[in-house]
Amino acid sequence: MKDVTIPNPAPKLVGADVSRVDGHRKVTGTADYTADYNFPRQAWACAAKSTIAKGRIAALDTAAAEKLPGVVAVYTWKNRPKIFPPKKEDSGFMVAEHLAPLADDAIHYHGQDIAFVVAETYEQAREGAGLIRATYEETPAVAQFSAPKRETPGKIYGEKSHLEKKADGVASVADAWQASPTHIDVTYVTPMVHHHPMEPHAVIAKWHTNRLTFYAPVQWMYGARNFLAASLALPEENVRVISHFVGGAFGCKGSSWMFMLIIAAAARDLDRPVKFVIERESMFTSVGYRPRTTQRLQLGADAEGRLQAMRHLTESNVSEVGPFVEAAGHRATSVMYASPNIEIDHQVYALTVNAPTFMRAPGEAPGMYALESAMDELAVALKMDPVQLRLANRTANHPMSALPFSSRNLEECYRVAGEKFGWAKRPPTPRARLDGDWWVGWGMASASYAAHRSNASARIRVLADGTAEVACASHDLGTGTYTIMTQAAADELGLPLEKVSAQLGDSTLPEAPVSGGSQSAASILPAVQMACRSALAKLKALATSEADAPLHGVAPADLEAADAGLRVKSDHSRHVTYAALFERSGEGAIEATEKVDPSAETKDKREQPSYSRTTTAYQSYGAFFVEVHVHRLTGETRVRRIVTAMDIGQPLNLKTARSQVIGGTAFGLGAALSEHSLFDEDSGAWITRDLGTYHVPVNADLPEIDVSFVGPPDFKFNALGARGLGEIGNTGITAAIGNAIYHATGARIRELPITPEKILSSLDEA
Ligand code: MOS
Repeated sequence: MKDVTIPNPAPKLVGADVSRVDGHRKVTGTADYTADYNFPRQAWACAAKSTIAKGRIAALDTAAAEKLPGVVAVYTWKNRPKIFPPKKEDSGFMVAEHLAPLADDAIHYHGQDIAFVVAETYEQAREGAGLIRATYEETPAVAQFSAPKRETPGKIYGEKSHLEKKADGVASVADAWQASPTHIDVTYVTPMVHHHPMEPHAVIAKWHTNRLTFYAPVQWMYGARNFLAASLALPEENVRVISHFVGGAFGCKGSSWMFMLIIAAAARDLDRPVKFVIERESMFTSVGYRPRTTQRLQLGADAEGRLQAMRHLTESNVSEVGPFVEAAGHRATSVMYASPNIEIDHQVYALTVNAPTFMRAPGEAPGMYALESAMDELAVALKMDPVQLRLANRTANHPMSALPFSSRNLEECYRVAGEKFGWAKRPPTPRARLDGDWWVGWGMASASYAAHRSNASARIRVLADGTAEVACASHDLGTGTYTIMTQAAADELGLPLEKVSAQLGDSTLPEAPVSGGSQSAASILPAVQMACRSALAKLKALATSEADAPLHGVAPADLEAADAGLRVKSDHSRHVTYAALFERSGEGAIEATEKVDPSAETKDKREQPSYSRTTTAYQSYGAFFVEVHVHRLTGETRVRRIVTAMDIGQPLNLKTARSQVIGGTAFGLGAALSEHSLFDEDSGAWITRDLGTYHVPVNADLPEIDVSFVGPPDFKFNALGARGLGEIGNTGITAAIGNAIYHATGARIRELPITPEKILSSLDEA
């Protein structure tokens, strides 16, 4: 294990404004996504789905489908191919839905897969699936948000569902709240929403005797591999998962889904490749969603706006067939503001519905929406500026654990973004500015997301022609992973960007963690650095060890990588290129693979013994400032300006970092104004089943988003000083928009999304 707390001495490309190295492939259509692949003898699969939520299949008529020309197989619970579906996830993979596929005649939710039809063409498979006829014995589904009983979940992100801290002498946080000179009690509702990456889930399973090659867009190469191996009773090395490009994921491709297993088993059973591409409508029933939350916020403050008590009480739905719990207060109120009394509680209720899963900023997205909306309401009650209220409650330590933050520059975020926005000119009262028929309002909110890291490995090869290949089994979800790996390797090896190529998306490469929790860049890049340094040590030996070596006599420590080779630190004229070294030695390549384990870093006391969740808290922060225009007659909201500043440590690539924040912001804008998966509380069916009725923001909905990065690199967190930023953009923005709508109109809408209908009926009251 290597120590990785040595900051990168002289980054040139890391941190720069580098264009995506895969950009040309993406815009010219040569980037290979799973559904682009087709293989000889390939068959297509399509699923038939239950049209009731709960009960059993009384009869399943597959005859018409079986007779359809082109159909090669119809799989139901009666002839399921041999699989060993795991009941629980283990540490080697994640499964969002524990229901074994095609297990029996029981129906557990509306849209459950009841048969898979495999045919020569996609059209035949789809037509065949449409010919499956099921009759059911129905039993009552639990689909009412209000009816089911509340339960205490086991753990929420490893923490107890009830968290509390109290000042000495305080009987309860509720008492402290009640006793506060100013206190508010407000409840927010966030609806179920779906991920909807542009690329739907797709899989192709291809066998070579007992070895499986599996093409699928996934957020965890080793997770998918381990899931398939365990479920098909194969050694892990017999499964290869390929995921060169992923067309967006947002969490729904992090867990393995049971249909992957059926397709793999069908391909083995039929001895031919089988391809399965999920239709957009099945993205609602089959690959997770964000649960509904109801969040009650009780905030109490003194006359100066200092918080005396905070209570964040959440209820969210879970599924009968999956373990996922959407957090809220645990990921927001626990990390934001100083307060002597804080209580966070979470209850769940199980619905008869398919399993939910992680969705971009799970926990933070709904939690920060409610907290930052409530802070705005508290500012109104106190007649205080919302920024001033937040400044009055600044903290250098984690509010619950009291651990110091590794680096926290939230106040700088308010200052930088607020000045750019012109916040000082904001009229203090709402409904102050009508521009033609449009109410104009300004709102702000804080953003926050935890910083995560995990074990990661990377391999570097320096080739005889002086180029290098950097590789690991992570992938690029559209985030820029190919690019930042290339930048880091080029910096370490003193190569220009174009002499380094990056490989990702293949489970035969060195292991990388799940791309969840915004952790990929922060986990992988230290491993890339270490692998490069190991390769450099070998190159230095080539340059110095033999008597006639070009830099013989120079101590390796006196050499550095530069100009596509090695040079003497004190005399840059003494330089040898890698190509020249290889030509002399006759070797074809030098290779090094390194693994970095963040938890091991604290064991090496020679360097900063700081990476440990028991001594330091790691968290990113930001601020959003928003201008909205709300039409006084139609209730239409247009977001006109968004200015944000983010404290995420060192941005690894200014261009892709900015894009990540913009993407997250667009996500949160959709949650604020339009995204809502309607769920029928009578039948337990999703009503919203297409992108015509599920509105994700498009370019025309977005204003220019002005992104700044503030704060120093966080070298306590990792060698690059970089915390992740895939999700923080989707925290706080939703509240900032709601707060701006309040400021524009005087109407406070506490249930998302804030649609024209809700605005109009509130305007009548306002
Ligand atoms: Mo992300 S929702 O942690 O995949």
